[in-house]
Amino acid sequence: MRPLIYAANWKLHHGPSAAREYAARFLELTRPVPDRELWFFPPAVSIASVADVFRCRPDIWVGAQNVCWELKGAFTGELSLAHAVEVGATLTLVGHSERRQVFGETDEQSARKVKAALASDVTPLLCVGETLAEREWGRTEEAVRRQLDPVVALVTDAGERARVLIAYEPVWAIGTGRNAAPHDAADAHRFIRAYLAERGWPGRVRVLYGGSVNAANTLALLAEPELDGVLVGGASLTAEGWAEIVGLGG
Ligand code: PGA
Repeated sequence: MRPLIYAANWKLHHGPSAAREYAARFLELTRPVPDRELWFFPPAVSIASVADVFRCRPDIWVGAQNVCWELKGAFTGELSLAHAVEVGATLTLVGHSERRQVFGETDEQSARKVKAALASDVTPLLCVGETLAEREWGRTEEAVRRQLDPVVALVTDAGERARVLIAYEPVWAIGTGRNAAPHDAADAHRFIRAYLAERGWPGRVRVLYGGSVNAANTLALLAEPELDGVLVGGASLTAEGWAEIVGLGG
């Protein structure tokens, strides 16, 4: 069995009490499995309660959905990496398509967040992926390159680069019930790896797939060796549903 990461992105669901109940139930339903890491991205206000309940599970990691590139200062409404770490976060999503599409986050801002996360010893999971229009115009690779380039330019240290993970999440597949075909996802992952390797990225970068992953398609997706795991929104929202999915890969 190769190592796999199952990452749950709860988006704007589960406040502190609901998150705590979910985590407690999830503990009852699952046990650690070698080479399987379970990652949770609750809303910022719920990180503390989730991290608290999962403290006893070395295979479970908790993170933020978004962070500021500055640790403190005049940044109203932002989440400081220092504060996220203080309540138990060791990971963060960066540049999720909802940050980019709904809140206008730029590729450069995402790169700064990756850099800041690394400086705070927080593992960044950088999300990239094309829109439907980009896919239809044959511009998938161009879109992904555009999102990766500022990160390549800003994160130059080999040790830091080795700690970055990528989530390939085609925008048209997120929350739509329409997942990428496993071989298309694998092609995109292969492209991302080759592109980064050509730019001196060390080792084999870990790439997760996200976009309408569910209990029915997880196994087919993970049958592609190019996928190092999945990043899941809707299908991770109940402890029972998510426990079923994380149990599928053995
Ligand atoms: P979805 O979301 O699984 O609901 O498509 C994935 C994501 O946005 O990370």
